[in-house]
Amino acid sequence: MHAARSPFLDACRSRPSERVPVWFMRQAGRSLPEYRALRGDGSILDAIRRPELATEITLQPVRRYGVDAAILFSDIVVPVAAIGVGVDIVPGRGPVIADRFEGPADLDRLRPLEPEQDTPYVLETVRALVEELDVPLIGFAGAPFTIASYLVEGGPSREFARTKALMHTDPALWAALVDRLADLAIASLRSQVLAGATAVQLFDSWAGALTRRDYEQFALPASRRVLSALADLGVPRIHFGVGTGELLDLMGAAGADVVGVDWRVPLDTARARVGPGYALQGNLDPAICLAGAGPATEEARRVLAEARGRPGHVFNLGHGVLPGTDPDVLARLVDLVHEEGRSDAPVDAGSDAPVDAAHGPAEGAAHGPAEGAAGRGRELPA
Ligand code: CP3
Repeated sequence: MHAARSPFLDACRSRPSERVPVWFMRQAGRSLPEYRALRGDGSILDAIRRPELATEITLQPVRRYGVDAAILFSDIVVPVAAIGVGVDIVPGRGPVIADRFEGPADLDRLRPLEPEQDTPYVLETVRALVEELDVPLIGFAGAPFTIASYLVEGGPSREFARTKALMHTDPALWAALVDRLADLAIASLRSQVLAGATAVQLFDSWAGALTRRDYEQFALPASRRVLSALADLGVPRIHFGVGTGELLDLMGAAGADVVGVDWRVPLDTARARVGPGYALQGNLDPAICLAGAGPATEEARRVLAEARGRPGHVFNLGHGVLPGTDPDVLARLVDLVHEEGRSDAPVDAGSDAPVDAAHGPAEGAAHGPAEGAAGRGRELPA
């Protein structure tokens, strides 16, 4: 079992830590030769249903890289698949739904999840992992909006046209849909934490497709319900999306302890937007890793500089590891962050003006109080 305190958990709580913690979204998976060797062909959903295999795949990147957290090997579509929604994960494409969500009758297909009966393999994997790991295990779920987009579109989408049409033509049906999906996420996340996961991440990967107004009306309420339903468990809650630079403050206010930032917004700008009292996770461009160790380490130093050495930074990529990534580049990044990262700068030192003039002015003013108020923010659960 891992220790109750760790650099990762400290950073999630915005406490100074002995080093800047680092893990990578999609650290398990196709970029690792040992993953490809172990998994072979066949559906990833089948691999997830085999606890011994899923445990080993989760551990592979932890052993190889020495990252500060493990993320459960699973997928955001596991709960809907487990209650009988036909879903296949097509390589190179993503989740594809057999029968799209089209109307009120389809709500009946979304019955409540009973984790011990419906996803016993997930809980078995979590329990095996917490025995093995000496770093925290991150459990996760898809946010209602992102899962709804797969159900309504029938698969991955660029425009989210059907999804947005449903929100605006039948807001009551949309609300009922995301409400059921919130219940699924709550049941799944609570069961993962009760089985031993010590942090959770809510993936609202595609929320960046929404306007602020639509996010506030159609996505945030269900996500807020998920995050608040975990409050009593006392584990840090990470809230992540891609292209969500304009939503960062809302994603924090939805009930997160840590706001995930993709590579588009520098961390100092993100900090000003999110306001005090939250940790940030990110935000190296995953594509830079394909350029090799030189460019990747140079950019990683820039990310560390933009975090200003303040408590409350979890180093990560701005989205998942790309399949063609050389594992040695990620190993270099972990060493660099551990060697050069600092998290003990006073929170009110310096202004939030950008580190580098090329980034343009910091944009905190429009969204909330400046960083100097940190510590006077809301109480984080102990
Ligand atoms: O290391 C980890 O991050 C742990 C496991 C993990 C997977 N999926 C395994 C996986 C996590 C956290 C996810 C979450 C997930 N799944 C998200 C949210 C994160 C994000 O990327 O924004 C989303 C949108 C999905 C849906 C999904 N599953 C997609 C889009 C794909 C890629 C399809 C492809 O082949 O390009 C998957 C498949 C998937 N999930 C893989 C892995 C390791 C790769 C396929 C494989 O190994 O067969």
